[in-house]
Amino acid sequence: MRKNVVAGNWKMNKNLQEGVALATELKALLNGVTVKCDVVIAPPLTHVASVVDAVKGSIVGVAAQNCADKEKGAYTGEVSAEMIQSTGAQYVIIGHSERREYYGETNEIIKNKIALALQNGLTPIVCFGEVLAQREAEKHFEVVKSQVEEAMFGFSPEDFGKMILAYEPVWAIGTGKTASAEQAQEIHAFVRGIIVEKFGKQVADDCTILYGGSCNPTNAKELFSNTDVDGGLIGGASLKAADFMAIIQAF
Ligand code: PGA
Repeated sequence: MRKNVVAGNWKMNKNLQEGVALATELKALLNGVTVKCDVVIAPPLTHVASVVDAVKGSIVGVAAQNCADKEKGAYTGEVSAEMIQSTGAQYVIIGHSERREYYGETNEIIKNKIALALQNGLTPIVCFGEVLAQREAEKHFEVVKSQVEEAMFGFSPEDFGKMILAYEPVWAIGTGKTASAEQAQEIHAFVRGIIVEKFGKQVADDCTILYGGSCNPTNAKELFSNTDVDGGLIGGASLKAADFMAIIQAF
């Protein structure tokens, strides 16, 4: 089912106490307020279980920012999808460009992570997007197409339907340089088009596609008003409860 979603990716920010305080503040801001989107926060892994507790009784869902591409065993330092699920978190971000760039994640690895997330009942929020040089060379459609096909199209229509997609042009992440509403809509419509070709119109219509990259309280409304933009994956602006709340209320 296509949904509006605003998800906050805290990245490697906030210690445990600060993270619990931020989650608690957000819960308080949302108390008694009707919102028109699902709300998700993705704290660092060390905080996930405590943040799940902190937001209990609210509409806020919790995501991990990553999971292992292996089921279990001798993989020191890794955390499995099953472990994440056991904390009460419901989502996991997979294939963020920072994971692709700094930790060598390929579409193949991302595909394995998606499979494990789905097997464990987590909703994967799968990221893709071109880097600046690719956009300048006008290769962004091609890049996005191969990322989406290689990481996400090897699943059944039913499993694909459980994923949330997030278009994050790398040149817009943390740079203050947002994709224009037209640039976002253009890629989102393109992606929905290739989903129609692969899985048919119903699956494409039901697919939630988020935009991420310097989304903030000022530009959120314009971005979210596009037909094919179903919400945002928010980095920097999710670290302040009031800013994140303002983005949630852009719907
Ligand atoms: P940003 O990050 O909002 O700080 O640009 C977005 C993201 O990387 O998910």
